[in-house]
Amino acid sequence: MQTMSIALDDPTTYMNGPPHEFYTWLRNEAPAYWHASEKFAPGFWVCTKYSDVIAIERDVKTYSSSSGGALLEDQGEGTDMMMLNQDPPQHTRLRNLVARGFTPKVIRGMEPHIREAARTIVDAAMQRDGVVDFVPNFAAELPLVVIAQLLGVPYEDRHKLFEWSNKLIGANDPEYGAGGLEAALEASMELYMYAQSLADSRRDRPLDDIVTTLVTAELDGEKLSDIEFNVFVLLLSVAGNETTRNLISGGMLALFENPEQYERLKEDVDGLLDPAVDEMLRYVSPVMYFRRTAIRDAEVRGEQITEGDAVTVWYGAANRDEEVFPDAQVFDIGRSPNEHIAFGGRGPHYCLGASLAKMEIKVMFEEVLGRVPKMRQAGQVEHLQSTLINGIKHLPVEYA
Ligand code: HEM
Repeated sequence: MQTMSIALDDPTTYMNGPPHEFYTWLRNEAPAYWHASEKFAPGFWVCTKYSDVIAIERDVKTYSSSSGGALLEDQGEGTDMMMLNQDPPQHTRLRNLVARGFTPKVIRGMEPHIREAARTIVDAAMQRDGVVDFVPNFAAELPLVVIAQLLGVPYEDRHKLFEWSNKLIGANDPEYGAGGLEAALEASMELYMYAQSLADSRRDRPLDDIVTTLVTAELDGEKLSDIEFNVFVLLLSVAGNETTRNLISGGMLALFENPEQYERLKEDVDGLLDPAVDEMLRYVSPVMYFRRTAIRDAEVRGEQITEGDAVTVWYGAANRDEEVFPDAQVFDIGRSPNEHIAFGGRGPHYCLGASLAKMEIKVMFEEVLGRVPKMRQAGQVEHLQSTLINGIKHLPVEYA
């Protein structure tokens, strides 16, 4: 067996996007692979098979999110209060409390606003001449507006949220993360203080919004504490922004790189947009990995996992598992079935914002495809250097 080795813990590995060739090698030759690491010493298991990701995420008795957290990186103080880093029953309590802000009714109610925001964004972008960067002009704004709306952040404060979230997620990237970990920690403190002021203002003056629901909601006599609320705002600001933004940019790039699929979609937006969005999610997989920690000995694909080991699951790799997706490397907007796991392996942490994200993505592409039918790529794409997010920083486009 020829061996391959690529440093998955090094952000520069992702300079040209996720290392799909390595993922394929891993799935075929070492589906449970011990990745030694100085940065995350002594290392971590890398699981790349679709069925293993699902099994690991569902087996909360063996694989913990709280012991060690959901990332390889240290996430800073207070993040053990974040639902992403918790196990049942604490996680269940928090999830049930915040799920009230994400009911299908709440999400449906947001659609007109999301559509109006997408229209405004596309209108403004179309005013620009020459080469336009798709990322700030099309993709970045909508998720931000939606989170801000969800949280009732006033319009003039929205760009603060954007900057904090950029600093938090791009700590390793030279462009976004100037200041690195220190800037990320500072951004999280600022965000906490901002969240606290939002919560205080809703307690004084309740409005018909999620923040009011969250800071006043009681479930079996339970309420979110201030710190839980602040940490939840931080989670939403990162989880809801970067993921959706990069799916929109990554989905557009996939259309540019597969012009026959782009044409096919333009000819039948009504019939093909739903499966196209799922295919973008599978193909792009904006979240690259999450981590669990073994809290008892276990075995994956014949490998001995020892209590205390960090175990990572790689969504982008699992979403191209040939055992589940025929021609998995091919971007096919009509793919069916398409049970991708870009939102997680259907365990208790399954993405809380999945329906909201899908609605945003769909509405944005409806606007882009309907109103800018002759968009084309006009320069090199630049990828985000992050081990967590499959991101695109710049995607130059022009309108023919
Ligand atoms: C394309 C967009 C998105 C992708 C690909 C994505 C992906 C994910 C993934 C992979 C997880 C972890 C699942 C697991 O461990 O089983 C997750 C969790 C989460 N996501 Fe998303 N997400 C997206 C958008 C959003 C949005 C728009 C929001 C909210 C506004 C959101 C909020 C959350 C929250 C709160 C969690 C933690 C849930 C928990 O721990 O119980 N996400 N997401």
